[in-house]
Amino acid sequence: MEQLTLPHTNLNVSRLIAGCMGLGGGWEPDTVLNGGHEKQARDLVDSALELGINFFDHANIYARGRAEEVFGRILKERPTLRDQIVLQSKVGIRWANDPAGTPQRFDFSYENILAATDAILRRLQTDHLEILLLHRPDPLVEGEEVARAFARLKQDGKVRYFGVSNQNRFMMEYLQHFLPDPLIANQVEMNLLHSGFAEAAISFNQASPTYPDGWEGVVEYCRLKGVGLQAWSPLARGLLTGGDVSGKSPAVQKTAALVKEMASAYQVSGEAIVLAWLLRHPAKIQPVLGTSRGDRLRACAESLKVKLSREEWYRLFETARGKSMP
Ligand SMILES: NC(=O)c1ccc[n+]([C@@H]2O[C@H](COP(=O)([O-])OP(=O)(O)OC[C@H]3O[C@@H](n4cnc5c(N)ncnc54)[C@H](OP(=O)(O)O)[C@@H]3O)[C@@H](O)[C@H]2O)c1
Repeated sequence: MEQLTLPHTNLNVSRLIAGCMGLGGGWEPDTVLNGGHEKQARDLVDSALELGINFFDHANIYARGRAEEVFGRILKERPTLRDQIVLQSKVGIRWANDPAGTPQRFDFSYENILAATDAILRRLQTDHLEILLLHRPDPLVEGEEVARAFARLKQDGKVRYFGVSNQNRFMMEYLQHFLPDPLIANQVEMNLLHSGFAEAAISFNQASPTYPDGWEGVVEYCRLKGVGLQAWSPLARGLLTGGDVSGKSPAVQKTAALVKEMASAYQVSGEAIVLAWLLRHPAKIQPVLGTSRGDRLRACAESLKVKLSREEWYRLFETARGKSMP
C-alpha cells in the first residue's frame, strides 16, 4: 500500500482511507448495536490492516453515533490497535430535535465543536483524534470562534490537526485567515460521475461552462497550500462497478461498459479502474472508501497497481461527461 506523509504533519498514512459510514447499522435512530455490528467493524479493521490501510474516517453523525461507538468497542478490545491507526472524525452537523424542538442545522459554534468532539472521544474510547474536520459549511460561521475552539482542542491534546469538508476555496481562505496552523484536508465528493473538480479545469472561458458552482480554484488552492484532497463516494456507490445502470443516462451506461473493458485489459477489478481515475490526478487525491466488505476493499486496493495513461484518463472523463473536450 502506498503511504503518504501528510503535508504540515508528521502523520504517515495509507493512500486509501477506510470510510466508516457503513458501520453501526444505518441511520435509523432506534437501532441497538449487537454482535453482528461488532463483527462487521472487526472485519473492516482486519481487512484494512491486512491491506496496509491505516487511516479511518468517521463523523459524529454516522449511524447516529453508532459507527464510532462500535469502532470504539474494537479499539477497547485491542489495546495495541490505537497506535497503529490514524483516526479522523467530523463535527458540525446537528440532527433535528437535538435538543427537542430544534431543526436540523450546521453548528460551528465554540460550544458545539467542543461538546461534539468530547462525545466523539467518548464513543471511540480514545483520548485524541489525529484529525478533526468541519463536516458541512455553516453560513453562521465566525472564524474567531472556530479558531478558539481548535486552539482549545489542540491545547487539551484532544485533536492534533484540523481540516474541512465540502468547502469551496473562499470558505477555506476565510477560515485559514483566523487559524495559526494550516488546514490539512478538504473532504469533497469526487468520482467519475461527480467530476466538478475536473470540469472546473476545462470550463474556463467557455460559452457554456459546465463546472458545478463552487469548484473554481479549489484544486489549485489545495495543491498550493498543501491541503489534502480526500474524495468521498469515490466509487459513485458502485454504479460503475456492478450497480444497476438500466434507466441511467447513456453516458453512465457507456462508462460502466468502459470500466469493465479496462478492468479486463488490466486484469484488475472495476473498482480499481474507477479509483485509478482519481489516483492519476496530480493532487494526490485520497479516496475515502465506503465499503464495509473485505472483498470489495481488496478490489479497491488493486487500484494502486494501475497507472492510467493520460489518454486512458481522458477517455474515461470524456465518456462519463458524455461529450468531448471543449
Ligand atoms: N464528508 C462528507 O460529507 C461525506 C459524505 C458521504 C460519505 N463520506 C465518507 O466517504 C466514505 C465513502 O462514501 P460512500 O459510501 O458514499 O462511497 P462509495 O465508496 O462510493 O460507496 C460505497 C457504498 O456503495 C456500495 N457499493 C459499492 N459497490 C457496489 C456494487 N457494485 N453494488 C452495490 N453496492 C455497491 C457499498 O456497499 P458495500 O458496503 O456492500 O460494499 C457502500 O454502501 C464514507 O464511508 C464516509 O467515510 C463523507
